[in-house]
Amino acid sequence: MSQISVDDILSGKKKIAVIGLGYVGLPVAVAFGKQIPVIGYDISKRKIDLLKQGIDPAGEVSSEELKKAAIEFSHDSEVLADASVYIVTVPTPVDSHKVPDLGPLKNASQTIGKYLKPGDIVVYESTVFPGCTEEICVPILERTSGLKANIDFFYGYSPERINPGDNVHTLENVIKVVSGSTPEITDFLADLYGIVVKAGIHKAPSIKVAEAAKVIENTQRDLNIALMNELSIIFDRMNINTYDVIDAASTKWNFIKFTPGLVGGHCIGVDPYYLTYKAQQLGYNPQVILSGRRINDEMPLHVASRAIQMLAEKGISALGSRILVMGVTFKENVKDIRNSKVFDLIRELRNYGAHVDVMDLIADPEEVKRIYGETLISEPEGKFDMVIVAVAHNQYKQLDMDYFKNILHDNGVLIDLKGIYRKQEIPFRYWTL
Ligand SMILES: NC(=O)c1ccc[n+]([C@@H]2O[C@H](COP(=O)([O-])OP(=O)(O)OC[C@H]3O[C@@H](n4cnc5c(N)ncnc54)[C@H](O)[C@@H]3O)[C@@H](O)[C@H]2O)c1
Repeated sequence: MSQISVDDILSGKKKIAVIGLGYVGLPVAVAFGKQIPVIGYDISKRKIDLLKQGIDPAGEVSSEELKKAAIEFSHDSEVLADASVYIVTVPTPVDSHKVPDLGPLKNASQTIGKYLKPGDIVVYESTVFPGCTEEICVPILERTSGLKANIDFFYGYSPERINPGDNVHTLENVIKVVSGSTPEITDFLADLYGIVVKAGIHKAPSIKVAEAAKVIENTQRDLNIALMNELSIIFDRMNINTYDVIDAASTKWNFIKFTPGLVGGHCIGVDPYYLTYKAQQLGYNPQVILSGRRINDEMPLHVASRAIQMLAEKGISALGSRILVMGVTFKENVKDIRNSKVFDLIRELRNYGAHVDVMDLIADPEEVKRIYGETLISEPEGKFDMVIVAVAHNQYKQLDMDYFKNILHDNGVLIDLKGIYRKQEIPFRYWTL
């Protein structure tokens, strides 16, 4: 079987298709599309319609960038018939029991299997547990195509490190890890991604190693944040500010700086469950990883109960109090609201009887309504007993106390989860994580 070369790709003799055009897939398609024609396939007709109009619903790629890329967008899988290299970037969420939901990955593999031809290469980028590509995806490709892996077609894994909302650590300037089903495919993938990634390529010795590398990157972050969250609960009782402690400790050369916060989104709060799921299947019950998950998942309840205590200290009853929550996205400066823990916080505050108004200047109000049933307000009306700045959007960072004086009662409480105002003179009861 003659193998596809990067020259075949560069000359347009063979085409790349990207399957799943979300936060990860679209930037990948655009990066390649600036150099070579790319097929962009997504099952969402709505998304494809918007992309054809030059709109990225995730707000990550500008219309100008989209225009620069030669991408044939389609929600009809027939376009895949022209592809020879398939890059899979579909979601890998967990279900309500925190069990990996491999549905999108299996569906995408089935779809690709229908179009797979001898010599083709399938590269998975979705975050999975070690072993998933070879135990789950490749057998589906074989079954659907009737072809044999590593004889008729080849495959690989290349984890994605795209960081939405971050213009510094982009696809092009972060080292990319690749691993192929044969040494030749690893070399091919290194050359292929080398077309767009300028920071360098790391060839992992096996697909399982590449899968494990990604999942531990996020597990490590999750655990480090959990440690900071636990410290913040402890320091709160000691009446010291966690951010001040972190600033002081960070002056040591080997202190690793993390900050407390609500852990949501599609990655950090989800990926550890892929690892723990597989560990449990293998008879090991992970303790450190899951206890970190528990701490992070319980932070909204901790914040809500502290918030209500602080109102009580001011003689304000939770029942009927007015609270404004600023920021609902899972992290700063992105539109992504998936698994945002701010909604858990809002629910909990309402359980105490508070009237909660919610605003966010980046999140899409329709999306917030559709997914969480929450109506965002565009401007705060009247004065509140408490304002909770839950997300450190750049615009929120620029606010000063004059802004809060207009919307907070004099004896109100300002909760600043990310500590963004703590260097300012604050005329209210003030609390950070
Ligand atoms: N978002 C991040 O910051 C990030 C970073 C690194 C890795 N990842 C990983 O990348 C993967 C994708 O994440 P995302 O944030 O881009 O998800 P996303 O939900 O933004 O995008 C996924 C896209 O895939 C489409 N899709 C779903 N099933 C499909 C199918 N069968 N065929 C074709 N298209 C299909 C969806 O319509 C959606 O547009 C996940 O495994 C995630 O863990 C995400």
